[in-house]
Amino acid sequence: MGVVGLGAMGAGIAQLCVEAGVDTVGREISPELAERAGDRITHFLTRKVEKGQLEQEARDAAVSRLSLTTELADLGGCDLVIEAIVEELAPKQELFAELELLLSAGALIATNTSALSITEIAAGTSKPERIVGMHFFNPAPLMPLVEIIRAELSSDEAFETAYAFGEKLGKHPIRCYDTPGFVVNRVLIPLLNDCIRVLDEARVTVEDLDTGMKHGAGWPMGPCELVDLVGIDVHVHASDALYEKLREPRMAPPPRLVAMRNAGLLGRKSGRGFYTYD
Ligand code: 3HC
Repeated sequence: MGVVGLGAMGAGIAQLCVEAGVDTVGREISPELAERAGDRITHFLTRKVEKGQLEQEARDAAVSRLSLTTELADLGGCDLVIEAIVEELAPKQELFAELELLLSAGALIATNTSALSITEIAAGTSKPERIVGMHFFNPAPLMPLVEIIRAELSSDEAFETAYAFGEKLGKHPIRCYDTPGFVVNRVLIPLLNDCIRVLDEARVTVEDLDTGMKHGAGWPMGPCELVDLVGIDVHVHASDALYEKLREPRMAPPPRLVAMRNAGLLGRKSGRGFYTYD
């Protein structure tokens, strides 16, 4: 299989695939980015060995199943390609058009988009029936869920093959249709936005809000920690996309988050968001 775009999500998906015994070609746009993704994947696989969660031989076998490239043509032999590039419609449509020319007629193409319409991504292709959504959650290797999303023209076969592949990766897949935010983000994004608004309304500190949601609502991490993990830019972008489609005020990104995004406070990946990271 192939993964296009090896940021946090794409690298996590590629890691899952090689751990599940699938030969995987990962594609990035520069050798430096490809190498960084490879390092990230081997780091987490090695950590699993150190923590007794994976045998050394299984780790070595997983690492050997991963090949990295900057050439899209190297994905030509794949039966399934998962796209995890930048969250913008035009580059995704362009990529899908290129993939179409490369892949065999029976190959499937899945997008990991969190907030764009899969039907629109598929619209520019000549075989939209082979396109589905496979939406993983951050961090992809740890979060058990994958949403299998059916676009308007996805075939039953593509939809069920993607579902079965989610199971092969050891995930709990759920089926849904291509609607804004699908299932989890439709609920989680406005909820996180409410949490951020409460910071100002209730004049609660970031730490106390996180403590409140962890100890009062049973969340595994607080909302501010979570937005930092997801990336403030990613969250604002997803909020904007949902607001544009649903027009519910709670969907719109809170001004505080937009200001943080504009200032480059993007969370863990930039070293600073609600919290500061090494
Ligand atoms: N592969 C393997 N291990 C990884 C990893 C990866 N890619 N990334 C992190 N880890 C490991 C780290 O190695 C670390 O272990 P170490 O410190 O010993 O090296 C470990 O994960 C994290 O350690 P924690 O003790 O913090 O782990 P927890 O048991 O507390 O669980 C969690 C972490 C699973 C992230 C948990 O806190 C959780 O469930 N948080 C909620 C996350 C969530 O809600 N995600 C969804 C976001 S929304 C989304 O993704 C949608 C998108 O469209 C925006």
